[in-house]
Amino acid sequence: MSNNKVSRRQFLSYTLTGVGGFMAAGMLMPMARFAIDPVLQKKAGGNFVQTDKKVSEITDVPVRVDFTFEQVDAWYKSDVTNTAWVYKEGDQIIALSPVCKHLGCTVNWDGDPAHKNQFYCPCHGGRYEKNGKNIPKTPPLGPLDQYEVREKDGFIEIGKAIPNTLV
Ligand code: FES
Repeated sequence: MSNNKVSRRQFLSYTLTGVGGFMAAGMLMPMARFAIDPVLQKKAGGNFVQTDKKVSEITDVPVRVDFTFEQVDAWYKSDVTNTAWVYKEGDQIIALSPVCKHLGCTVNWDGDPAHKNQFYCPCHGGRYEKNGKNIPKTPPLGPLDQYEVREKDGFIEIGKAIPNTLV
């Protein structure tokens, strides 16, 4: 017969140590995960999003191209659809943001019959030239942003928004 009896004091000590350790792990694990999770996230293949618009369909007249990507906010994922105005300037493909630089409404190409071949913002009458340059004496104080853009397998791919390099 063994003489290794556990005293009441030892039993309580072991139990409290175990419970305390379990609780500490429960508090520390989320913190550790929060700290290292971004490092472990898989990066998507570049920052470009494929669209269903063929490069062959792009002309020198801006057309609206929608693109959808997955946005991750902490642990919440959602699909976001953005729009670009895309046209060709010679061999170069240009993609402009539709977000007005006045108060953020959405601009349209050729939206104002009185001012053809311009981007027009219906909110306060903001206007932009085809390259995104804001027209003086209209509300916007800066040019439309540009998107990085490239061709892949004959389709347009849109990247991140950058300051306008055309004006
Ligand atoms: S938001 Fe476009 S002109 Fe005001």
